[in-house]
Amino acid sequence: MKKRDILLLLGALAILGVLWMAPEETTTRVPKDETHQLMYDSFQKNGKKATGKLCEECHNKAGVPFPPEHPPKRRCLLCHKMQL
Ligand code: HEC
Ligand code: HEC
Repeated sequence: MKKRDILLLLGALAILGVLWMAPEETTTRVPKDETHQLMYDSFQKNGKKATGKLCEECHNKAGVPFPPEHPPKRRCLLCHKMQL
């Protein structure tokens, strides 16, 4: 192997390592209940991005409130994983 190849390989490994070390997910998962069944259907059909937009129809100030110290909330599903 050439030296350059080895460097490339090390670079790739480093990136993988960082992804691997991402903080363990402790955030509440999307409940698998009747209320969220539509979300699971949409998730399977249309994917994460499209589904994430639907959450706010119920999760908003007037509906299901967020905890007061909730982090900035765009793309719910990045943090709240579906239970597969
Ligand atoms: C049809 C209305 C509705 C939609 C759409 C909806 N939710 Fe909910 N969600 C609720 C209600 C009501 C609760 C509280 C009662 C419960 O757990 O079902 C809740 C609770 C939650 C909880 C807290 C569970 C817990 O254990 O405390 C999370 C997390 C959550 N929803 C995430 C999501 C995400 C992410 C989406 C979008 C993919 C979403 N919800 C879409 C109505 C909805
Ligand atoms: C940056 C990460 C992040 C994003 C994005 C995010 N949340 Fe959260 N959410 C959290 C954290 C952290 C908590 C604190 C409690 C926990 O560990 O689940 C929380 C709590 C909640 C709770 C209360 C759950 C409980 O156990 O009491 C609900 C409901 C919720 N989020 C819904 C949503 C919805 C709906 C969206 C999208 C509009 C969203 N979140 C986006 C990180 C996030």
